[in-house]
Amino acid sequence: MLLRLGLRPRSFAASTPLAASLAWSRPIQHLCDAQSNVTPNISDKIGVNHHLNDRHPLGIIKGLVEASFPGFDCVDDLHPVVTTKQCFDSLMIPEGHVSRAESDTYYVTRDTVLRTHTSAHQTELLRSGRTQFLVTGDVYRRDEVDASHYPAFHQMEGVCLFGADDLPAGAAPASAEATAWVEDHLKASLEGMVDGVFGPVEKRWVDAHFPFTDPSLELEIYFNGEWLEVLGCGVVQRQILDDNGAGASAGWAFGLGLERLAMVLFDIPDIRLFWSTDPRFTEQFAAGKVVQFQPFSKYPPCFKDITFWLPDTFHENDFAALVRSVAGDLVEQVETIDDFVHPKTDRASKCFRITYRSMERSLTNDEVDALQVEIRDAVAGELGAELR
Ligand code: PHE
Repeated sequence: MLLRLGLRPRSFAASTPLAASLAWSRPIQHLCDAQSNVTPNISDKIGVNHHLNDRHPLGIIKGLVEASFPGFDCVDDLHPVVTTKQCFDSLMIPEGHVSRAESDTYYVTRDTVLRTHTSAHQTELLRSGRTQFLVTGDVYRRDEVDASHYPAFHQMEGVCLFGADDLPAGAAPASAEATAWVEDHLKASLEGMVDGVFGPVEKRWVDAHFPFTDPSLELEIYFNGEWLEVLGCGVVQRQILDDNGAGASAGWAFGLGLERLAMVLFDIPDIRLFWSTDPRFTEQFAAGKVVQFQPFSKYPPCFKDITFWLPDTFHENDFAALVRSVAGDLVEQVETIDDFVHPKTDRASKCFRITYRSMERSLTNDEVDALQVEIRDAVAGELGAELR
């Protein structure tokens, strides 16, 4: 059932000193079975833990959000490899839901994945008896490639439960009245957090759908001329509370993307910068301080196009993951620039434009050509596509 790119591991970077202090922060390739679609450039990210570095924008923003929720238990050291039960089943995400697809999720084995969201830890923490908690960690999704999408990013989950004593007098935890009250409390708490962290900023609520909350909402904030989705949230499904020892309560949950928030707060224009080790980036930040990022000169981009006939089962994320696995952070963007269906044979082909650009130096034509050749070989070999 598992269709994989099957790319062979290359080298695995040694863990950073910070990672070495955490017992679990070792590369995970020994956990991956032969079917795994976890590529080395992804597995290298495990254990980096930017969210634990108080001089990194992600660590700084984590501290600010935690400070907006006094009294909450803060958990930030849970391992990113989780079971499909934790990540999906426990959250009522049905079989066949798109978030489970191999085109969207990194499978370590058939039954384990790199968590796609910090919600994967909701039910275990509910069962531990906690009633107010924040969980922060690195999460992984196979995704498109552009300035605000990166296959590894960070989320913070928040959960808050209310017993009968907290709810309006006479409202049973499972009642519609309690649900409406919890939703109001949720919105006020998150608006308060955003105002506290950002100062007044334009924001709007949008209806959403998550299998594990009802009702479900998203909060967007206005940044650089566009509405940016920064968090998903809602009232926790009754069944999840009942199944995890919290049946006498009602509660809300949210999951927020730390990179998105940090891009807005520090004015960081490209999500790849969060992984930069360039001192011109890292030395701009200090613990507990919010500063405007000072861009350093951008090196020139280099564009290369590739066109191929699509294999029978093809997902654009497969191509994006392949490009990432060959060229890593030297890829700035992958866009489709042409779709073609042959009028006689009905065969479909696509042309993709890859933008290469280093954050740290000028790329030479030769090295980009070499990467492009490698990508072409992998498209033919791994994806089984016919190049045009
Ligand atoms: N886990 C959801 C996501 O990653 C966000 C979310 C968390 C939504 C908690 C509702 C409640 O998109």
